Amino acid sequence: MGHSGQQLYERARRRIPGATQLLSKRAGLFLPGQWPSYYSRAKGVEVWDLDGERYVDMAYSGIGACVLGYADPDVDAAVHEAVCLGSMTTLNCPEEVELADLLCEIHPWAEMVRYARTGGEAMAMAVRVARAHTGREKIVFCGYHGWHDWYLAANLSENDALVGHLLPGLAPAGVPQGLRGTAFPFHYNDVRKLEEIAARHELAAIVMEPVRGQEPQAGFLKSVREISRRSGTVLIFDEISSGWRLTSGGAHLLYGVAPDVAVFAKAISNGYPMAAIIGVADVMQAFQSTFVSSTYWTERIGPAAALATIRKHRRCEVAKHLIEIGNRVKAGWRRAADRAGLAIKLGGIAPLASFAFDYPNGQTVRTLFTQLMLEKRFLATSGFYASYAHQPEHVESYLRAVEEAFAVLADAIEKKEVERLLKGPVAQAGFYRLA
Ligand SMILES: Cc1ncc(COP(=O)(O)O)c(C=O)c1O
Repeated sequence: MGHSGQQLYERARRRIPGATQLLSKRAGLFLPGQWPSYYSRAKGVEVWDLDGERYVDMAYSGIGACVLGYADPDVDAAVHEAVCLGSMTTLNCPEEVELADLLCEIHPWAEMVRYARTGGEAMAMAVRVARAHTGREKIVFCGYHGWHDWYLAANLSENDALVGHLLPGLAPAGVPQGLRGTAFPFHYNDVRKLEEIAARHELAAIVMEPVRGQEPQAGFLKSVREISRRSGTVLIFDEISSGWRLTSGGAHLLYGVAPDVAVFAKAISNGYPMAAIIGVADVMQAFQSTFVSSTYWTERIGPAAALATIRKHRRCEVAKHLIEIGNRVKAGWRRAADRAGLAIKLGGIAPLASFAFDYPNGQTVRTLFTQLMLEKRFLATSGFYASYAHQPEHVESYLRAVEEAFAVLADAIEKKEVERLLKGPVAQAGFYRLA
């Protein structure tokens, strides 16, 4: 294996605070000192590093963005066309109206649409419009929703408020203390806690993913909907990761509970920046009473990519494929673990599957797993986000490698030599300062 990526990463650490723009792309979260970190090109499920080494990506498919696979020909053709026709002018691109109609057709409860280009900013817009509409300030939320002040404010009150909401340790330095007491967390499926917070505070919005790490318990989403209606609170479903996985649209379509606002990003445009906020007219009209505006929210590539992605998603029944591939991988993890005598816990919906090594040194075991899989030319960790490009043969060869790796891990655990087999430090978890 070459080392150009690791050398570049060392340079990046000195020049770019935190080395990357997205926490989830830090080498230290995967395999410190050994992770290839940078790619030269990618196609389908394959990624080539800076030394031309080829890997099959069985990790996060572009951190959830590339639901069709890397460099999808249909989406790329639409993007090339948008580039050739001019991606930006003084006038607007017609694709944004076409996309708005399509999103409202897919989600018949929604009447109006606004756009952004990233998930976090789109969530900040959704929260702003909910606050503008209700004239209230407080937010109750569950899960991870990005880096913006409204969200990190939860960690001003209790340092660990966001622990258990996907990412531990999100530090709120720089978030105004004045926002203390404006964002309150509750845990998924915990209706009692939500009721309690809603009874104590005048809330602008309930913010949550309709599904992610676990399925909703019977009646949970309906209860949330009812609490929101009763208290005049805007219900915002964050579909940035859950959208375009279980259906050709939001996951909420599957559960029959419509929010007031839903937010899409990531998979909506298969690797090109795009985000959409859709909602009922009554709430969305409040965008006219609060200033929310940005130059690059008007460029053409995002809507063109989204239209091509959504059309292919529907035409090829991509959600069915993702569920099928994800279930194969989950079943394979379970089988391999049972054969090796390893204790693992499975999690996540099938297209966004995950597992954890159920040992006190689970993170060390996971780091060794990534090292062993990298040696077999797989990008692999304890999560797998399926794409349309993942075929059963990729899953089979991956699972053969997983079986071999799990056998080595079981042996290493028994002999207490997991750490000794690591060629670098143990991977970190969550947000941390890079020295
Ligand atoms: C549920 C959810 N909300 C918001 C975000 C933030 O989106 P972005 O990274 O595009 O800003 C993410 C990203 O992982 C997410 O999974």
